[in-house]
Amino acid sequence: MSRPVSGVHVTGWGAYAPSRVLTNAALARMVDTNDEWIVSRTGISERRIAGPDETTASMAAVAGLRAIATAGLTPDDIDLILVGTLSPDYVMPSTAALVKDAIGNKRAAAMDLYAACSGFVYGYATANAYIASGMAKHVLVIGAETLSRYTDFADRSTCILFGDGAGAAVLSASDEPGGTMGVEMTTDPSGAYLIWLPGGGSARPTTDSSFASGEHYMKMKGTETFKMAVRTLGSTALSSLKKAGIELSDIDLVVPHQANIRIIEALAKSLDFPMEKVFVNVARYGNTSAASVPLALAEAVAAGRVNRGDRLLFVAFGSGLTSGAITLEWTADPAAMARADGIGPESVKVLPGYLEPTNPFPPALEWLR
Ligand code: ACO
Repeated sequence: MSRPVSGVHVTGWGAYAPSRVLTNAALARMVDTNDEWIVSRTGISERRIAGPDETTASMAAVAGLRAIATAGLTPDDIDLILVGTLSPDYVMPSTAALVKDAIGNKRAAAMDLYAACSGFVYGYATANAYIASGMAKHVLVIGAETLSRYTDFADRSTCILFGDGAGAAVLSASDEPGGTMGVEMTTDPSGAYLIWLPGGGSARPTTDSSFASGEHYMKMKGTETFKMAVRTLGSTALSSLKKAGIELSDIDLVVPHQANIRIIEALAKSLDFPMEKVFVNVARYGNTSAASVPLALAEAVAAGRVNRGDRLLFVAFGSGLTSGAITLEWTADPAAMARADGIGPESVKVLPGYLEPTNPFPPALEWLR
């Protein structure tokens, strides 16, 4: 273990979104809904769906390789790989282990982090602690989800919300000024069953009857979740700022979890913070859970919304109910992301399983194949 460092900086970032697009119009042909309802209640117009040959690990690996290239590093420079996900390829091995192989890293420790939509922010906080203590120099933090495989496309109250994708960041040790300023994580189990997936765990292992009753799909109490989300996002964001020793007015850009535009707008209103300084891309991806913050971050940088010296606030909430916020000063050159040009799905190869592959594509979306 080397000496503790004074600074933990984002040095690389990257994202991957699958190419198949599921529009509101297409959903309206599957369940009793319509574009106007979905847009006015959620702000979502379309979401991406992983292809039959894509999994959480494969998408995570592409986003991860892009982040490593942006940081100007090679895969073997990474000491620790953390994958935040609630839709792993398997219960075991970890998706992070598969990502390690797929990106060609020979030396990192790798593990998954289970904090639902807060998965990336929790991963960032964990990476920050490893680096600050001197236990790691470069950590790859990924948020990746294939929620389409856990979505009931006959349930109009949930199937309109979720999408697939991946985002990643490399966090690195540095004694330069800036970097991570304030980290906050909270967990409130009083809301544990507001968003949950009942079947398949040790409490309710999969049986024919659990399968027949759809226990393998995500369930949600939307209205209660909405209210708790606004409250929790606000208090977590303020705690992170307090730890950073700065005011909300010092923040140049908030990158929130993209669950619902109304949640994001209610958060901004409750904090009296201008929406112009909040990055929003929920319209095109829906809620990608752990992938949402790093996917939004990569798009914000690409759109010229992040500059050296800017102060950023990441804030997320998810099942658990978990919540997390990071206040940081951005020190990387936004142009560095050009180094990731040319990295795509063909750049990674996920270890095949030992069973014959089954078709993982959701039957309800067969027409998208
Ligand atoms: N199309 C048309 N009508 C619908 C649809 C739909 N897709 N879904 C529900 N409705 C109907 C309901 O049946 C209800 O009808 P009724 O009044 O006749 O009973 C009516 O619309 C209103 O339903 P509500 O659930 O009260 O609608 P609400 O305004 O709360 O919006 C929504 C629902 C969008 C789900 C909202 O509650 C929400 O976004 N909640 C937060 C969800 C969230 O962020 N979850 C992610 C958590 S993060 C994680 O860890 C996964």
